[in-house]
Amino acid sequence: MSDANPARLVVLVSGAGTNLQALIDACADPAYGAKVVAVGADRDDIEGLARAERAGIPTFVRKVGQFTSREHWDLALTDTVAAFEPDVVVLAGFMKLVGPAFLGAFADRVVNTHPALCPSFPGTTGPADALAYGVKVTGATLFVVDAGVDTGAIIAQAVVPVQDDDDVESLHDRIKVAEREMLVENVGRMAREGLTISDRRVRFGR
Ligand code: GRF
Repeated sequence: MSDANPARLVVLVSGAGTNLQALIDACADPAYGAKVVAVGADRDDIEGLARAERAGIPTFVRKVGQFTSREHWDLALTDTVAAFEPDVVVLAGFMKLVGPAFLGAFADRVVNTHPALCPSFPGTTGPADALAYGVKVTGATLFVVDAGVDTGAIIAQAVVPVQDDDDVESLHDRIKVAEREMLVENVGRMAREGLTISDRRVRFGR
């Protein structure tokens, strides 16, 4: 993708949207090579959607409860995202597992960020689980989404030391600082260089 033709990012969020904001800010530089064309969520009234609205980016909400089944939700989410013709879909704190239709439509183009060093501590409580286990380092992982929970091929990881006086909030806050930097750097590289995956090994380039 060139400056004149930036990669199209659709970002899905469920919460505060600080990762989204980091991407929006990075995209302000044409040399970054990407543009957030839409932001979607699985719930209303979240700061992530407000951030998108303030930036003039189209938003949409698809709640699981609006549909008769999880499968229908997945199909609706797929259609909505597809309409924005994304080159990359970024799950940035999106607290739902996308389904087979979604992964089929955007194969190897959906990435997620997880606040732990995969394969350790998958799921929604990564920082708390790392703290409870007593690890001395944890961090964040950017990976290509597959059908599992935080099991996809790893694009990048950032290491964060655990401090003696950490609680879950202080640890997660420090992870999020490293996570945002990792996300911005590597989504930018994906946008500019493309990604090749072979036997779980990910490298930049087409
Ligand atoms: C991030 O740490 C993400 O990895 C986790 O939830 C947090 C979302 O933060 N799943 P934000 O909404 O981007 O501020």
